[in-house]
Amino acid sequence: MAKKIQTPTLIDCDPGVDDAFAIALALASPEIDLRAITTVHGNVPARMAYRNARRVVPFLGVNLRSPKPLPAVYPGAGLPLRGGRIDRKISISIHGEDGLGDLFRKRKPPAPGLRRESRVASQVIASLSRGLGGSLSIIAIGPLTNLALAVRRDRKALAGVGRIVIMGGAAQMPGNATRAAEFNVHCDPEAAEVVMNCGAPITMIGLNVTRRAVLPSRSLGGGGEFRGALRDLAGPYIGFSKRRRGVDGVTLHDPLAVAAALEPGLVGCLHRKVSVECGSGPARGMTVVDLRPGADAPASRARSAEVAMEVDEKRFLRLFLSRLRAYRGWS
Ligand code: BDR
Ligand code: CA
Repeated sequence: MAKKIQTPTLIDCDPGVDDAFAIALALASPEIDLRAITTVHGNVPARMAYRNARRVVPFLGVNLRSPKPLPAVYPGAGLPLRGGRIDRKISISIHGEDGLGDLFRKRKPPAPGLRRESRVASQVIASLSRGLGGSLSIIAIGPLTNLALAVRRDRKALAGVGRIVIMGGAAQMPGNATRAAEFNVHCDPEAAEVVMNCGAPITMIGLNVTRRAVLPSRSLGGGGEFRGALRDLAGPYIGFSKRRRGVDGVTLHDPLAVAAALEPGLVGCLHRKVSVECGSGPARGMTVVDLRPGADAPASRARSAEVAMEVDEKRFLRLFLSRLRAYRGWS
């Protein structure tokens, strides 16, 4: 059988329960050559995001049926571009005190874990972008601060990457952090505005599609030790979702971005200009997708994004669940 082409990929994340699911999907996908994971403030403060990723990656790695080299994990920005702290109360109720449903309170993280890296996220993002150019895919599933800092370091390199797939924003629907803003954009609207306009081909996977990507709780029932761990990981997240939205499952926001990078046909996109509201009023953090007739005329395509408007959720769930079979203890 012909070997699948592997895309060199960097994931920028703030783990986070669904970030951990997204990393699980990426590591289990032979099409992805995961070169680096960079971490950023968001669901948890930056130092915890770094620690969580350094625990999650080897935890997933030891459970893979066919072991593979694991990506290095790098620390990143602790504050949004214009400073100011984000209130963590809601995040704690969604992702648990440690951001990972207290998974590693119940289980020992694998020793020795990954080593500490000295380079910071924005350096790594800029240097991989420079080195790999059009063959690199960046999947951003947290606030966009690291990417914006990388744009400041080397705009030309970032503009030259193959694709940036962003889980963030919402097209034509309210946000989940405020009425106007989706969480990742809410955490750093200025950064989102920089990245949306950096000149790279952007795919925006917003709440309007990710809300439809729900892994029902029953899919996490039974199985072996690994499935049990994912069940624990998702515990608070599912609890919140039942209380708040009456949804009994894990909304796979971040994994959908990974899946869309793997199989672009999973989502139906419109090519549109996206502006990010950066004022200090109630619309702060809103992603304004220009859906006016004629807005995708060729002249306006240069500075615009592929905005996901449709998703084949059944096909996505099939893909997601089939990839989890790569882990010992899933079934
Ligand atoms: C996004 O916000 C975070 O809580 C999730 O990890 C996801 O990246 C969804 O709005
Ligand atoms: Ca995230």
